[in-house]
Amino acid sequence: MSQTPGLRDRASAAGVDLARLPRHIAVIMDGNGRWAQGHGFQRLQGHYEGYRTLKEVLLGASDLGIEYLTVYGFSVENWRRPEDEVGGLWKLIEQAARTELRGLVENNVRARVAGRIDEVPEPTRGALLELIDSTRGNTGIVFTLAINYGGRAEIVDAVRRLIHEGTPAEDVTEEAIAARLYCPDIPEPDLMVRTAGEMRWSNFLLWQAAYCELYVTEATWPQFGEDELIRAVLAYQRRDRKFGMTLEQTKAV
Ligand code: IPE
Ligand code: IPE
Ligand code: MG
Repeated sequence: MSQTPGLRDRASAAGVDLARLPRHIAVIMDGNGRWAQGHGFQRLQGHYEGYRTLKEVLLGASDLGIEYLTVYGFSVENWRRPEDEVGGLWKLIEQAARTELRGLVENNVRARVAGRIDEVPEPTRGALLELIDSTRGNTGIVFTLAINYGGRAEIVDAVRRLIHEGTPAEDVTEEAIAARLYCPDIPEPDLMVRTAGEMRWSNFLLWQAAYCELYVTEATWPQFGEDELIRAVLAYQRRDRKFGMTLEQTKAV
């Protein structure tokens, strides 16, 4: 009987160097609305399809050996959308958190959130906190859902904390700010994927993305999948990350 090769085998066959995987991948999951429109569906149907994609990509990233996956689920600017879409998104996130809890525990996924969580409406907030609690002891891929998240808001919140702590001006360093972001223990992303072709950050991980590699695909998020993930990793591995140095210097490290 023929066996479907595992994702690591498939990635390797496609040319991926498994010893040089990005440690942390961040994703701007965009294009759900356009996908729905293109199929004559309501926008919310696109978000449901996006949820299906997210499941596939999370398990794929885990199989591949990615340590951290951070996805943009709801931005602080997304509150500006029509009320029924916003309400539908919160409902979908709540349902997904409840439905996936057992599977994430079994797959050793550790769930986290990043954002202004206190402002996430109940019962979505409760469902997310339960998911975080239930997966706290897991040791596999760290999956962070950026929710009610804004990169500027995150920096503002970090600075507020510094001020509350009475930090003197000379102690306000990059390290001090980084230590007060929402998930200070998570390394900065190496690769940022954006679907649906837009060449912008839309306020995602502004601080942490300073030196991550950007990969934009025309595929909408519902069209994205394991093969697209492999393509993104391949593109990443063709880049020269220089961190301000010359190419010769980085090769010498
Ligand atoms: C991204 O898809 C999902 C969220 C913002 C929650 P969009 O809903 O932004 O899709 P487009 O950009 O309208 O196609
Ligand atoms: C970014 O997508 C937010 C999420 C993916 C959750 P948007 O669709 O909101 O971004 P803009 O408005 O096109 O910049
Ligand atoms: Mg969009």
